[in-house]
Amino acid sequence: MNHSETKANYGIDAPPVVRNLILAGVGCFALGMVANLLLAQAQLTLVRSLSLAGFFAGIGMWLGAGLMIWSSLYGKFRERDRLMELIDLRGDEQVLDVGCGRGLLLIAAAKRLKTGKAVGLDLWQAEDQSGNSPRATLANARAEGVFDRVKLETGDMRQMPFADHTFDVIVSSLAIHNVYEKEGRVKALREISRALKPGGRVALLDIQHTEEYSQTLRDLGWMEVQRTALHFWIFPPVRIVMGKKSSG
Ligand SMILES: C[S@@+](CC[C@H](N)C(=O)[O-])C[C@H]1O[C@@H](n2cnc3c(N)ncnc32)[C@H](O)[C@@H]1O
Repeated sequence: MNHSETKANYGIDAPPVVRNLILAGVGCFALGMVANLLLAQAQLTLVRSLSLAGFFAGIGMWLGAGLMIWSSLYGKFRERDRLMELIDLRGDEQVLDVGCGRGLLLIAAAKRLKTGKAVGLDLWQAEDQSGNSPRATLANARAEGVFDRVKLETGDMRQMPFADHTFDVIVSSLAIHNVYEKEGRVKALREISRALKPGGRVALLDIQHTEEYSQTLRDLGWMEVQRTALHFWIFPPVRIVMGKKSSG
């Protein structure tokens, strides 16, 4: 089979979280079943409540896992398109996708570029996305017909391997929240600001900390910093932070 005939595969986000929700759901449901069996012999209110709580908690966790899988397979492509519309590339930009994973935004950006280049930066952590590797991302770029417009770098967003003022546009999806300490996330935003050209723009999509991203960009003297309303095509729901680095 020719490479370009292979379908791109963008993986499942946070696979350990999905697995734990499924297992915890099984545990709760089993607890509910045991309590229900006891209920058949003893008409205890406490046991009846435990049984119902087990069933509902189990169903809630399976629902959460199902919504996360649905987001990875369908919903996030809608959010990708919305972000691409907001950032509205001309076609000649140097674009960076921070925490690109298997290339969701990287490849979408590359498809809109004529003379520009899309660069993906990542540490390729398997716990953040299934099958995460430069090889998988390059295979997706090939399958989507943008292999020649894509370049990958391995590195940490808190210390990016790029010179100052390299990029016209920087995007990121579901990645910055994976840095657990606020100090690290602020460092990542400072790195984004450093690597961006004066007047350059960002669009950062995430499930949490978006108010913190907006405030950090304002503290760095950025202009036109905006945060969208919650979007529900991804579970947990997301917001996009947009902003423009000052040209001075
Ligand atoms: C949930 S995945 C999202 C991938 C892709 N942006 C998408 O939306 O499909 C998060 C990505 O961030 C990357 N990542 C996490 N911490 C990072 C760090 N400190 N520096 C660079 N990449 C990081 C992970 O390896 C993973 O590829």
